[in-house]
Amino acid sequence: MSTAANSAGTCWAVLVAAGRGERLGEGRPKAFVRLGDLPLLAEPLRRLDESEWIDAVVLVAPPDWEEPAILLAEELGVSKVTACVTGGATRTESVRAGVAEVPDDVAVILVHDAARPLLADEVIGRVVGALDEGFDGAVPGLPVVDTVKRVRDEAVHETLVRDELVTVQTPQCFRASALRKALGSGAEGSDCSSLVEANGGRIKVVEGDERLLKVTTRADLDRVAAWLSA
Ligand code: CTP
Ligand code: MG
Repeated sequence: MSTAANSAGTCWAVLVAAGRGERLGEGRPKAFVRLGDLPLLAEPLRRLDESEWIDAVVLVAPPDWEEPAILLAEELGVSKVTACVTGGATRTESVRAGVAEVPDDVAVILVHDAARPLLADEVIGRVVGALDEGFDGAVPGLPVVDTVKRVRDEAVHETLVRDELVTVQTPQCFRASALRKALGSGAEGSDCSSLVEANGGRIKVVEGDERLLKVTTRADLDRVAAWLSA
């Protein structure tokens, strides 16, 4: 059922949850901070597991948190987690560790931040679907509402054309070959798309979702909790 839903072939998800959550400041990794009754990680994990677009999930956990991550997956009764690996010092290194667990014959890899718990299946469908149009990858984007300026030494250097700007989220979906090549270059980036772009990959921007807000601060966590219980 799941494979048939995706004409681009088998799609594996890499769920990166290995960050320290320093800005949230709860004294434990963000993925294990409570959202409702469960660790935050439970929500995106359950949603990926339930998605017809996703065939398998690789979980990337913080050092020393692999076991709690596996126990959580068992407690949730999810069936698609095939591996749980230890993350690296940066997000890109964590993605690299996760992608290394994806078999060579998998056509499509979707990377998602555990810090964005409210993952809607429609967004997964949009990024996976874009690969059928010949793109190497796809990212969800939201229009920018404020004017954005480039600043150097406290002075405005340039005002950017707002209509051309979007902020991008995860899930980000790629042809596995394009993502592997980009990660293999050893480069670092704040998202995966920037690495694939730097390798000449064509990336489509699809409609994002306000609720895919990345939990960074306590206020973000409260907002996501309110959306979840509404
Ligand atoms: N991430 C990761 N490995 C890292 C750093 C980040 O897997 N070394 C993941 C986080 O778990 C999160 C996503 O990448 O799901 C986005 O990172 P961010 O929001 O910056 O989370 P943290 O790094 O945990 O937060 P902070 O920067 O405040 O410490
Ligand atoms: Mg971080």
